[in-house]
Amino acid sequence: MLAKKKVQASEWIEVVALKDIPKLGSRVIKTDVMNIAVFRTAKDEVFAVKDQCPHKQGPLSQGIVHGSSVTCPLHNWKIDLASGQALGPDEGCTNIYPVRVEDERVYLKVPAG
Ligand code: FES
Repeated sequence: MLAKKKVQASEWIEVVALKDIPKLGSRVIKTDVMNIAVFRTAKDEVFAVKDQCPHKQGPLSQGIVHGSSVTCPLHNWKIDLASGQALGPDEGCTNIYPVRVEDERVYLKVPAG
């Protein structure tokens, strides 16, 4: 009996050119199961976070980026983009995803689903 090829749980997918993400802004990548916000900081760091605030599901992609965090547009929670954790007195966490930049192109490891 032939062994079946193992299907990867997730794969790197090119999602957007770095220049197409505004500095201090984001681009939303829609997957079958969720929206992922890919943020670009002033230093051209890139982070991928589920586009859902841990407070009341506000769209983090519409927030303001400062340093390596984003302020939710609904009630101003600050979310650390590297960890997905709420900062300061607020508590909660949103999912983060592996993302990398190669030759000015952004690659995202999209969860299987
Ligand atoms: S939904 Fe983001 S701070 Fe309330």
